[in-house]
Amino acid sequence: MEEIIWQDTFSVGVTEMDDQHKKLIAMINRLIIEQKTLTTPATLAGLLTEMVDYSREHFRAEEYLMSEYGYDKKDQQVKLHEEFIQKTMEFCSATEIGPNILSVALLEYLQTWLMDHILKEDMQYKLFFESKGVA
Ligand SMILES: [Fe+2]
Repeated sequence: MEEIIWQDTFSVGVTEMDDQHKKLIAMINRLIIEQKTLTTPATLAGLLTEMVDYSREHFRAEEYLMSEYGYDKKDQQVKLHEEFIQKTMEFCSATEIGPNILSVALLEYLQTWLMDHILKEDMQYKLFFESKGVA
């Protein structure tokens, strides 16, 4: 599996959100790298926990910004954020049972999810925040 390389087309126009997305990409890339080196389940679990914690932080920041400016798709975003946390937590608990079997499915899920999150969901708020003067 290839690492995700940040591109300018990923920018949602809000620097703070771009920076957080870059950090999430780095965290998922780290998991991809670790998986290639046949890392220990404990390392994988630790990195996953860190990524979930950081995702929560990112979602809070995003939802706060959406509330602040009255973004009309906020509820949909909140739902997707919750689904992601729940799904990843399920993967995490299953990881304790069979890390090597599940890691590829997990990494594929994380990678697809992050790209969808940035390019499909968050990209929809780009023009909205731009119109509000948020940069
Ligand atoms: Fe986001």
